[in-house]
Amino acid sequence: MQFDPKSRSVLTRHDLGRFAGRTLFDRIARTVCEAECLPRKELFESWEVARRVRRRIRGRRVVELAAGHALVAHLLLLLDATSEGAITVDAKPVPSATTLSGALTARWPRLAGRVEHRVGDLSATAIAAGDLVVSVHACGALSDVVLDLAIGAGAHVALLPCCHDEQTCDTGGLLGFLPIPLAVDATRVARLRASGYETITQTIPAEITPHNRLIIGLPATATEGSSPRARQTTGRHRGAVAHPGADR
Ligand SMILES: C[S@@+](CC[C@H](N)C(=O)[O-])C[C@H]1O[C@@H](n2cnc3c(N)ncnc32)[C@H](O)[C@@H]1O
Repeated sequence: MQFDPKSRSVLTRHDLGRFAGRTLFDRIARTVCEAECLPRKELFESWEVARRVRRRIRGRRVVELAAGHALVAHLLLLLDATSEGAITVDAKPVPSATTLSGALTARWPRLAGRVEHRVGDLSATAIAAGDLVVSVHACGALSDVVLDLAIGAGAHVALLPCCHDEQTCDTGGLLGFLPIPLAVDATRVARLRASGYETITQTIPAEITPHNRLIIGLPATATEGSSPRARQTTGRHRGAVAHPGADR
């Protein structure tokens, strides 16, 4: 039977054999399987986001908003040991996030004490200019609140939005050309650029989620002096998801 990466089934020890390789992804996946608390989709989604973000943005304090299980924050620290740590914010307590964090920390002790889980409204989060703000599937206009916070602080930002809504999201006057989700995300990119950001637009594999547009924003100070080639701003996923490769 096909192993569907967009399944919401919780990964368990029964899935260990599917991740038998030696890559960092396989090792993380096995740890997640042993924790028996994470929907399969979130493993693939979080990995695809984290590795794309880390190709563009190194170090920094990670602030994961609308974090849920907060796997992205952990992956961003594992992919870059120079990051000082992470805070994660969700409106409600997520008990399995604690389970997952404990399992990852037991496997990678260098995570110990470096991820702080906060419960509260993300709009109250204090963001610093040096932060990397990341949010995966903050529903509808919540993604815009994430952008407000990042732009307000001049922080780096990575957003994988979902649940685009004509009533609450800005469609930028683009509905004559574009469907609502695309109009909303194009308007978000335009807003970042109007705020002086360099933007990178990518997609993660649609086999994992239909809400797969990744928007990365680099504040002007981060890109000043880079060459036009280095500032190349678009990229697209070309391969199938199957099994993430040998990323460290
Ligand atoms: C669709 S889930 C995404 C969770 C996770 N990022 C993921 O990709 O699996 C949206 C999350 O946003 C959280 N949330 C909703 N409103 C929020 C708010 N105002 N402040 C912080 N978190 C919020 C919810 O509790 C939920 O965990």
